[in-house]
Amino acid sequence: MKKKIKGIILAGGKGTRLFPLTLGTSKQLITIYDKPLIYYPLSILLLAKIKDILIIHDPRDEKAFKNLLGDGSKLGVKISYKAQLKPNGIAEAFLIAEDFIHNSSTMLILGDNIFYGQGLKEKILSSIRENIGATIFTYKVQNPSQFGVIEFGKNNIIKSIKEKPKNPNSDNIITGLYIFDSNVIKYAKKLKPSKRNELEISEINRKYLKLNKLKAANLGRGYAWIDAGNPDNVLEASNFIKIIENRQKEKIGCIEEVVFRNGFINKKSLTKLISKYPQNNYTYYIKDLLKKI
Ligand code: TTP
Repeated sequence: MKKKIKGIILAGGKGTRLFPLTLGTSKQLITIYDKPLIYYPLSILLLAKIKDILIIHDPRDEKAFKNLLGDGSKLGVKISYKAQLKPNGIAEAFLIAEDFIHNSSTMLILGDNIFYGQGLKEKILSSIRENIGATIFTYKVQNPSQFGVIEFGKNNIIKSIKEKPKNPNSDNIITGLYIFDSNVIKYAKKLKPSKRNELEISEINRKYLKLNKLKAANLGRGYAWIDAGNPDNVLEASNFIKIIENRQKEKIGCIEEVVFRNGFINKKSLTKLISKYPQNNYTYYIKDLLKKI
């Protein structure tokens, strides 16, 4: 039987590192080269064939997100919205989304995370199929102490998970993409705020680890992962997307393309949708696609 899975994009947060931009707007709405940042995580959920998506946002930004994405019907999906009153931590998403998740599995993605690489879609789809509780997607970085660090033992067994350790014992970190079964709500309800006063996703992951129900899908060298949360990463992400898109003539994170290729919308609906778009390179790209497919 096909597993029922819903998607959540966590698009609130303090945005301290991008201040003063975040005084006026959500960081997930800034442009990364030729499209809003949130298109990249949204396209990952769409690649995973997820049709029921919740965006969790700062109360201030509700209108802006709704202006951008509406109820999702134009994309052949359902997008709903819920406010996070304060940035109380990533794991609060499961409390906010309790009714939305109900008894489904969930793919959670952080609204400022960009993933790219050949075979990513297959990797995500197989991780959903093989999930036995929770699945994290891991990546090797140069500065592990800024992230949730994961230590592997023999045969890739997960030994430990540490949140932002001063002296990390591994270069492998946990990216902002996760799969959880519906038990996550139960575990989130038991969490207490950490020293930095947040409900920590690492504690949830450790709970699944203790139960032997945590899997790690490693994103190796063939993948790019960027957490576009500080000015340097925003610039680097924009340059990266520009280079790939201009050389390959294929866009990364074009949500219209993903839903069209998925068969969520047909040629007629896509033609109608872009008939309202202004004439620019983004629209020309979709027009070209309509001619080719
Ligand atoms: P972070 O980048 O860890 O935090 P932040 O967005 O508050 O930024 P900064 O560290 O510069 O203050 O958050 C990762 C993602 O999760 C980002 O997309 C924002 C989102 N988020 C929430 O929506 N709510 C939260 O309570 C937290 C902590 C993060």
